[in-house]
Amino acid sequence: MSFGKSERRLLVLYGSQTGTAQDVAERIYRQAKKRLFASKVLSLDSYNVTELIGEPLVIFVIATTGQGDPPDNMKSFWKFILRKSLPAGSLCNMNFAVLGLGDSSYQKFNFMAKKMQKRIQQLGGRPLQALGLADDQHDLGADAVVYPWIETLWQNVLALSPLPPGTQAVPDNVLHPAKYKVELVDIPDVQTNNGCLSYNEPAKPVVELTNSKESSQSNPFHAKLLSNDRVTAPDHFQDVRLLKLDISMSGISYAPGDVVMIQPRNNTAMVNRFVAKLGLKPDSFLLLKPYDPDVFVPPTLSMTISVKQLVETYLDICCVPRRYFFELLSFFAEDEREKEKLEEFCSAEGQEELYSYCNRVKRTIVEVLEDFPLTSSNIPIDYIFDLIPPLQPRAFSIASSIQAFPSEIHILMAVVKYKTKLMEPRQGVCSTWLSRLQPADGAIVPIWVKKGTIQFPEDPRIPVIMVGPGTGCAPFRSFIQERFENSQTKMAQVKRNYIFFGCRNRDKDFFFEAEWNRLVDVGFLSVITAFSRDQEDKIYVQHKIVEEMSLIWQLINEQGACIYVAGNAKQMPDNVRDSFKEVLIKAGLKTVEEAELFIKKMEQTKHYQAETWS
Ligand code: 2AM
Repeated sequence: MSFGKSERRLLVLYGSQTGTAQDVAERIYRQAKKRLFASKVLSLDSYNVTELIGEPLVIFVIATTGQGDPPDNMKSFWKFILRKSLPAGSLCNMNFAVLGLGDSSYQKFNFMAKKMQKRIQQLGGRPLQALGLADDQHDLGADAVVYPWIETLWQNVLALSPLPPGTQAVPDNVLHPAKYKVELVDIPDVQTNNGCLSYNEPAKPVVELTNSKESSQSNPFHAKLLSNDRVTAPDHFQDVRLLKLDISMSGISYAPGDVVMIQPRNNTAMVNRFVAKLGLKPDSFLLLKPYDPDVFVPPTLSMTISVKQLVETYLDICCVPRRYFFELLSFFAEDEREKEKLEEFCSAEGQEELYSYCNRVKRTIVEVLEDFPLTSSNIPIDYIFDLIPPLQPRAFSIASSIQAFPSEIHILMAVVKYKTKLMEPRQGVCSTWLSRLQPADGAIVPIWVKKGTIQFPEDPRIPVIMVGPGTGCAPFRSFIQERFENSQTKMAQVKRNYIFFGCRNRDKDFFFEAEWNRLVDVGFLSVITAFSRDQEDKIYVQHKIVEEMSLIWQLINEQGACIYVAGNAKQMPDNVRDSFKEVLIKAGLKTVEEAELFIKKMEQTKHYQAETWS
């Protein structure tokens, strides 16, 4: 859409990794339309950045991923905007505001949003209000900051650019048009397969193995599952799997530290519960068209698709719904009791209760729909894309080396399952789906590969100290395999590889024990283990690091060793960092301040890298 010069224009740009920032950006966009702005909402990378100079009013909604990195869909924008050649006053006609979505359990909380605010201001942009710093760790979730921030935003925006005389904003409690128009289509020549419709079912592997373009989210490679083995003892509390995927003829290449993205499917039982609640026919077919010409239909939805396939592959029906879900649902409620409850959940006063009902117990969209049966059967099909976010791909550290396994990718994955106060245990969508796949059934997994944040040294002489408790050891297995393969041809075997591995019991969850012992035997690797539950007192990797202080200090001080830490976020990375500081103080005879500075320097020069996930 091109805007006329005199129009009140408001542009919403987002950098989103898991869809939350996009969700918030779209909410701001809808509200802008209700306030009669000519408005657009785009990911930063789908916006033509050279037009930024002419924008009067821009709202940035920015997520931060991993170690303070920009989300994938804003990387090019970010690179452009950092150019030194951009003149200082180039954005002096722009009013802007930045809302950051982050998680304070990570060290670099809302890092990208902070950087964006600073950079746009440097280029002359005028901030409309203070940077918003939403926090997933907040008791009431990110919305606790997002909602008040948006409220202030409209006060500021309307003060700057009031409604034209004689016009009125559409109240926020009026239902907005749906994102897409959904047409039910009749397909006359549908083939049947044992009585089931099979039109437009996912392509079969034979076709997919000839993938020619580089694989990506819109064009994943359909990898054959080669094996799926449990690597924890049957009586261990956690089900951890080593999965092997066949990437022959895919053109995929990868390095240690890279991640494989997996597009999961919803569990069939959940799909059935969902379609039953909405009164949909699983075998009917849909075609999507945008209502608004500025809204794009994602490539996966641009063809006719069966309801079953749509729900199985595209809608995130098992996520915990956000406040906006209840707002929208309340429009479709006719039953008084259901309407009252839904409206309470959307009100400012109802937030504690909504948190207890949903977030605390991780109640899913399907379960909420079952709790509001009269409203659920009333949802117009057009609105399901506004109500339910898309099913997001999941990232796994690659656990193999392409040198050691030229046509395979290995994944080490814990199957996510835990109890809350709800009767049914909570299950991770992707890990549960993967854990149930069997090679004998010809299982296929849609994948693509992304650069990881960890970068290992290319020089084989640099000693490497790896700290990877639990599944955190995955990227290190990849690096160890790769370095070993290279060492066979390129270098003499000198012990320069140290891995600190932690698990509960030697007999139950010591992954890759035999594989690593073979490398220990030939003098290539040292494995230092911390079994937390094989004795009364907990022993963790950080305790072992301190025990090995003279070796570690010598490796760092004399041989320029690199340190890598990977695993679950929460306490572990900080505890491990503290233990290295202790080593610097006790063995390197540094003061507390010197030790902190030393580690900071190592981080800056990439001699200390951490990759954590939750
Ligand atoms: P625990 O479950 O017995 O507490 C892999 O998950 C290993 O990491 C387990 O042995 C686990 O111990 C341990 N672990 C848990 N919290 C940790 C922390 N903060 N630092 C290091 N290791 C930790």
